[in-house]
Amino acid sequence: MKKPVIHRNYSLKAYNTFGIDVTADRFVEVRTLEDLQTVLTENNDGDIFVLGGGSNLLLTKHVTGLVIFLNLKGIQLLQTSDEYTMVEVAAGEVWHDFVLWTLARNLGGIENLSLIPGSVGAAPIQNIGAYGVELKDVFESCTAISIDGSHTRTFTAADCQFGYRSSVFKLDLKQKYIIVSVQFRLKNKNHLLHTSYGNIQAELDKMHIAKPSIQDISKAVIAIRSSKLPNPKEIGNSGSFFKNPVISQTHFDSLKTAFPDIPGYPNGSNLVKVPAGWLIEKCGFKGIRQGGAGVHDKQALVLVNYGNATGEEILSLAMQIQEKVSKTFNIQITPEVNVYA
Ligand code: EPU
Repeated sequence: MKKPVIHRNYSLKAYNTFGIDVTADRFVEVRTLEDLQTVLTENNDGDIFVLGGGSNLLLTKHVTGLVIFLNLKGIQLLQTSDEYTMVEVAAGEVWHDFVLWTLARNLGGIENLSLIPGSVGAAPIQNIGAYGVELKDVFESCTAISIDGSHTRTFTAADCQFGYRSSVFKLDLKQKYIIVSVQFRLKNKNHLLHTSYGNIQAELDKMHIAKPSIQDISKAVIAIRSSKLPNPKEIGNSGSFFKNPVISQTHFDSLKTAFPDIPGYPNGSNLVKVPAGWLIEKCGFKGIRQGGAGVHDKQALVLVNYGNATGEEILSLAMQIQEKVSKTFNIQITPEVNVYA
């Protein structure tokens, strides 16, 4: 069988949704598990960078080592019971295409996660979430191959240690495993609808839908996301750039005195989650532009590339935002996006 081709000094512009034009020392696209195994065992000097949809990534400089573009495809029905269907999805499937696949079969559980950019394999890494649902709610297990290609391992939900936009793959096992497939448990019927979060109910009312199906919820989510979040095909971006910070109730109460309109959501005992978008907007960054970099005018949590921003320009804007938010509110906001710097 032909071995995968390794390209030298390869442009990554088309492989990251920020559209940053940097090159990689070496680049290889893998389409099968065998190819991945070959690449990991034969070309591996330990400096490996795995790329999925490139939608949660800010590249600020030339990438050293070998970039592996994980283009493994396939969706397989595993088993069906009266209540559930188990599905195994290859890491390189586009997340939203998979959501549409489930909706076409009336399988419930990920309709609120419609239109999230990125690949299926990246979804567990940061436990993607939106509108009251997180990946962990439908996750059964995932299969991953060790970075040296020596073994494969199955991870249960407990193994993954899911948290808010976090998992073991971002912490202790960072750069140690490559997720090659994810197994989901989806509902066949009696769908659990999550309509209370954000504007979903308002959007359903606007659509004159009183008894929503999972397909209707997906349509509502798509409408909301499309109105707030820029389409990366038109304006480069990586979705929310920062995580929403969690602060103490005491800290929140003192901020409430100075800023009576500050929003906050209870997050465990004596903790409050504050929308970073609000903090950033309050600091005056919403809609601003610095060279090719900017802050989206409809959602301040999203940094954008208006065309030819460098990764450094976007990072510099992100750092100015962090600094001002810290000075104004004494809150440290941290990137949700993986920054290669
Ligand atoms: N807000 C502002 N100004 C802004 C943006 C937001 O004041 O410019 C305030 C408003 O009070 C608003 C609140 O922030 O009610 C929440 O905004 P939104 O519903 O847009 O959600 P978010 O907290 O900013 C999170 C996720 C999104 C996800 C939405 C919906 C994070 C880091 N982001 O954003 O995820 O789509 O909730 O569930 O948790 C992503 O991770 O890339 C992403 C887009």
